[in-house]
Amino acid sequence: MVGGGHLPAFRSVLNAEERARAGCFHFPEDQRSYICAHALTRCVLEAVSGTPARDFNFRVGHYGKPEIDEYPEQARLRFNLSHSRGLVCCAVSRERDVGIDVEWVGRDTDIDGLARKVFAADEVAYLGRLEGCARRDAFFAIWTLKEAYTKAVGRGLSIPLDGFSVCLDSLSLVIGQSLLDDPDAGNGADWQVRLAPPIPGYKLAVAVRAGRSGRMVYRFREVTPDALAALCCVPKGTGRTGFEPAFT
Ligand SMILES: CC(C)(COP(=O)(O)OP(=O)(O)OC[C@H]1O[C@@H](n2cnc3c(N)ncnc32)[C@H](O)[C@@H]1OP(=O)(O)O)[C@@H](O)C(=O)NCCC(=O)NCCS
Repeated sequence: MVGGGHLPAFRSVLNAEERARAGCFHFPEDQRSYICAHALTRCVLEAVSGTPARDFNFRVGHYGKPEIDEYPEQARLRFNLSHSRGLVCCAVSRERDVGIDVEWVGRDTDIDGLARKVFAADEVAYLGRLEGCARRDAFFAIWTLKEAYTKAVGRGLSIPLDGFSVCLDSLSLVIGQSLLDDPDAGNGADWQVRLAPPIPGYKLAVAVRAGRSGRMVYRFREVTPDALAALCCVPKGTGRTGFEPAFT
């Protein structure tokens, strides 16, 4: 959860461009989220690569997805980040396209109307078989998994959300006909999707282009603002080891 007191520590690992962008947010909450998410991402990238957090440069793809520029020799890292109502998260993988999405589930959303408008027909049918809290929970699970996939592909919501579907029972994706000729979108067998362990009030999902049968280890870690601020204050080059590398 993002608080205000740690901002100087978080800001100290950002570059000039990020600091300038942080200054452009109208709402303090959005500014805090941005600063925290980018500090978190830099510290995790340092922990898994050994490259100092401040030394990473980023470039932005055509649809806005940031990637590491000038890859450090030791690691071809991919990452993605997300923030929602005071919670920020990032996902890092080695060589595999990765997307992450977190949503605050307390918002007043007409889930049935939204599902009918943007979800694939089999997802709408799946939700229709559930009641009450189970339906709401499944809606946000499908929503975050879909968004994580679109972010892993790198196109975000320019990918039509009804062009593919999430199967919650098998935790897998089915890519629809309209996207099958699209090499970025891949096919269902190219993707693994996971939901994070429950976080009260939120739903968090990741998607990785790892092949359905590829052996991946997923480690979800919670980092408090205090812990992140302490990591940001570690002298440059001495290694932010607060996050163990999560790759095998
Ligand atoms: C990516 C997108 C789904 C994010 O949605 P959101 O729920 O508002 O935001 P989240 O908190 O989950 O994620 C935001 C982060 O995703 C990353 N991001 C931005 N664009 C992205 C993309 N196309 N793919 C993957 N990640 C992206 C950024 O790091 C961003 O955080 P930052 O601005 O602090 O750097 C949405 O912005 C989108 O659809 N973008 C595509 C826009 C587009 O089509 N542009 C066309 C330009 S030609």
